[in-house]
Amino acid sequence: MMIEQTEALDRANRYIEQNRHRVNPKYRDQYHLMAPVGWINDPNGAVYYHGAYHLFYQYYPYASNWGPMHWGHARSKDLVHWEDLPVALAPDQAYDRDGCFSGSAIVHHDRLYLLYTGHVVENGQTFQTQCLAVSDDGIHFVKSRHNPVIAGELLGDHGSIHDFRDPKVFAHDGSFYAVAATKTTDNRGRILLFKSVDLQHWDFFSTLLTGTAEQGIMWECPDFFHLDGYDVLLMSPIQIPRQGLAFRNVSSTMACIGQMDWTTGELTVQTTQEIDYGLDFYAPQTLVDEQGRRIMIAWMQMWNRTMPTHELDHGWAGAMTLPRELRVKEGRLIQKPVSLVYGQLEYLSGSENIDVSTRPVVFRNLVGDNTYMQIVCDLAEAASFTIQFAKTGQQALTLRYVTQTEEFHLSRAGFGYPITGDERQPLNSRAVRVPLVNDQLILEIFRDTSAIEVFINGQETMTATFYEIEKGHDIVFSAEGHAKIGSFETGRVR
Ligand code: FRU
Repeated sequence: MMIEQTEALDRANRYIEQNRHRVNPKYRDQYHLMAPVGWINDPNGAVYYHGAYHLFYQYYPYASNWGPMHWGHARSKDLVHWEDLPVALAPDQAYDRDGCFSGSAIVHHDRLYLLYTGHVVENGQTFQTQCLAVSDDGIHFVKSRHNPVIAGELLGDHGSIHDFRDPKVFAHDGSFYAVAATKTTDNRGRILLFKSVDLQHWDFFSTLLTGTAEQGIMWECPDFFHLDGYDVLLMSPIQIPRQGLAFRNVSSTMACIGQMDWTTGELTVQTTQEIDYGLDFYAPQTLVDEQGRRIMIAWMQMWNRTMPTHELDHGWAGAMTLPRELRVKEGRLIQKPVSLVYGQLEYLSGSENIDVSTRPVVFRNLVGDNTYMQIVCDLAEAASFTIQFAKTGQQALTLRYVTQTEEFHLSRAGFGYPITGDERQPLNSRAVRVPLVNDQLILEIFRDTSAIEVFINGQETMTATFYEIEKGHDIVFSAEGHAKIGSFETGRVR
């Protein structure tokens, strides 16, 4: 097949090769996926193809802030070590000239198809349609002659052409389907479902779900799948109001779990939950691996926040979370690091039976840029348990469990470069409710240079970025009452 390399694609790839060495390494992560240079946001087109995991991402190579979107591309055998591939899509056609926005990938007849949003701005108004690109080698893509394949006629009055994006394509019962995000005229989120036999010709199928006035003004980046007997819709609501501890960021993520009626195409929702209770987690997308496991990756940043790597002119911004395996248990979405990540863990140290009471217990030089920790702590006789992580002088990243309220807190307040955003007050700490299991708190912590992902009792996760001014290497445990750390293991991701 003839490969059509457009001018815009060539230019992006040349720019990356010429400028990747200019990126400041100080805050670069070691095992989280980042672009070689420039800005990234949402993960796109996550797929297992020809024996490797492929992940694309919203990409502006030319600066460390958002700009006309390309699709960056990386490939991995183990979901931990990523190889950069050439940029896959550039905004170079009439229907996507202002951006190739988010979308997804699917394998069909051994070819790799990308379904993405063509973004066009005319007289200050945006117009969004869904477009197709295909590849025989998983590296070079050709946009379809039929683009856009899902345009205004199919949308009709089901949604708004000004906000119509982020198609996620999947196969079900011998047909292709795609969910896409849109909104109602009174600013409520809505997810539409389209159907196709060949990925080229599409029909409107149904309105999968429409939000209430309390569920945000737009739902971005939908993903939809069947898991453990449930139908699960993941999406990213903008400006969803706070509900207790949930939805504190200006843009959030939500799982709607229920049952799908394939005759009407409607999802009946039984439960909803915020997916991650941290400060930097957005637009997750899933893929199915070769063993049928459902794996999720998200953008490890947040919209409308200051980004230190941009302000400090480091030449890059944005990274992806670790891949996490999803399960649904008793109607709740559960995440754990994928087993391939454990396969890459190198064990470094271990301690047992550490008593933490009136005096803090200090471990010096245990925290590095790449640090994994597992802490199992008995809190039967403790009112609270606090971990000062990467402590230096008065500064630390603080993790704290309060027994009475069953709340786990994560705070980067006063730690590293200040980060502010569109939230009413600077949001630098959050909490989540997680009951103890047999009086135990079990934490798994993955710290990469400028990010932390915490898995709490296998029930909840908190993800945040932070940018230390001076590196801290100590960890300090303290408690109100008497806490007993049964085991404390450290390691690193190879
Ligand atoms: C979500 C999002 C998507 C859009 C993309 C543009 O973060 O706003 O809805 O397709 O980013 O980069």
